[in-house]
Amino acid sequence: MAERVQGKGVKPAAEIVITGIRQCLTMRVPGGGPGAGGPLARDNQENPEIIRDAAVAVVGERLAYVGPASGLPSAVRTGPEALHIDAAGGVVLPGFVDPHTHLLFGGWRPAEFEQRLAGDSYQDILAAGGGILSTVAATRETSEEELVEIGRRRLQRMLVGGTTTVEAKSGYGLSLVDEAKLLRTVRRLAATEAVDIVATLLPAHAVPAEHRGDRRAYLRVVEEMIATLADRAEFVDAFCEEGAFSVDECRRILELGAQYGLRGKLHADQLGNSEGAELAAAMGAISADHLDYVSTGGIAALARAGVVAVLLPSVPLYVGSRRQAPANKLIATGVPVALATDFNPGTSPVESMGRIVALGCMLMRMTPAAALVAATRNAAYAIGRGDLVGTLEEGKLADLQLYDVDDYRMLPYRFGEIAPSLVIKRGRAVAGTREPLATDPD
Ligand code: NIG
Ligand code: FE
Repeated sequence: MAERVQGKGVKPAAEIVITGIRQCLTMRVPGGGPGAGGPLARDNQENPEIIRDAAVAVVGERLAYVGPASGLPSAVRTGPEALHIDAAGGVVLPGFVDPHTHLLFGGWRPAEFEQRLAGDSYQDILAAGGGILSTVAATRETSEEELVEIGRRRLQRMLVGGTTTVEAKSGYGLSLVDEAKLLRTVRRLAATEAVDIVATLLPAHAVPAEHRGDRRAYLRVVEEMIATLADRAEFVDAFCEEGAFSVDECRRILELGAQYGLRGKLHADQLGNSEGAELAAAMGAISADHLDYVSTGGIAALARAGVVAVLLPSVPLYVGSRRQAPANKLIATGVPVALATDFNPGTSPVESMGRIVALGCMLMRMTPAAALVAATRNAAYAIGRGDLVGTLEEGKLADLQLYDVDDYRMLPYRFGEIAPSLVIKRGRAVAGTREPLATDPD
C-alpha cells in the first residue's frame, strides 16, 4: 500500500517513477526568480527549464518529485510497489492544454472547404446563412446522447495526441435550450472522461436564423442565456468581428458575464482589426484569441492588462489567408502567448496540439521551446488552470507525456506526427503505445 503521510522525515512512497529522461521540459523558469509564477513572456517564454538526466515521481494524482535523477532517492521512497518507467533517453513534458476549442457540434463542412479554396470568403458564406449557421442547424438536430458520444471520441483522440486539459465552448446552439444542451454535454463528459474540461459559454457566435433581421431581439436572448447558464460555465466569450458582433455589443456581453461571475474571453481581431484586443484588455479578459490583425496599440494594451494571447495558426490556412498573428512581437512586448487548435468544423477541423505547435513554429516563426510553453504553461493560464497544470513541478497534477525522441525539437520538426508513447493524466497511464511495466528494475 502506498504511504501517503508526509510527516517530518517521512518520505512519501512513489506510485509511479520515471527515470532515464534525457530532456525534461518542466516549463518552469530556470532558477525561479521573477516570473516564476504566472504565464511566461519575453525571455522566459523562450527559455523554459530543461532538466537533463531527469526523474519524475508521482504520488496519487500529483507530482511528488521533478528534478535531476540524482535527487530522486532523497525525495521519495521508490519501493517495489511503484510502477517504474524507463524513459530510455526520451523527452518528457507536461500534457498539452488546449485552451480554445469548439468541441461539440454536429456535422462537418467539407463543401464549404472547397468553396473557400475556389475563392469564396468566410464572411460571405456566413452572411449567406452557411458557415457557423449551418453547424448551428446540424447541432440542434443532434441529440444530447449523440453529442456525448461524439465528444467522447474526440476527447479520446486528443488524449492519444497528448492533450490532457481542454477548454470547450458552446456556441453552436444559440438558443437557451440548445446552449443548455451543449453545456450539459460538457458537464457529462467532464464527469466520465480522463481529459479535464473547462466550459465557456459562447452565446454571441452568430445571430441565428430565427432572429435574422432583428439582432436586438437576439441580444436579449444572449442576456437571458448568460443569466440562466452562468453556473454551468467558467468563462463567457463573444465573436467580436465585422459581420458578427460589434465592440459595444461584446463589451455589454463581457460586462454582464462579469456580473454573473464569468471571466471574459474574446474572439478578437481575427479577420480584420476591430479593436477587440483593446476591448479584451479594458475588460480584464483572461485571454484574447486569434489576433491576426491586432494593432501595435492593441498589443501594448494586452501587455499592460496581463491578458494571455491565444493564437490559432491553423485558422488562417482554412480561411484562405496568409496573415498570422504576430507571435514573436507579442512575446517580445511582454504578452504571454498560448497556442490552441480552435477545433471546429469551419476554420480548424484540427484536433492535434502537436500539429498546432508545428504550425506555430513554421507559420509564426516561434521557437520550438516558446511554442511548447505556449501549448502547456501559458495555455493553462489562459483558462485559469495555471495553478494545477501546464508545468511539471511538485504539487501540481501529474499530467505529462513521454516521447521516444532524444530532442524536443523533433516534435515540431516532424510536424506533430510523433505521438507520445505514454500519456499520464492525474497520475494514471491513459494513452500511448508503451506498456508500462509494473516491475522493480532491481
Ligand atoms: O474561432 N471565429 C469564430 N468562430 C470560430 C469558427 C466557427 C465556425 O466557422 O464554425 C473560430 O474560428
Ligand atoms: Fe474559436
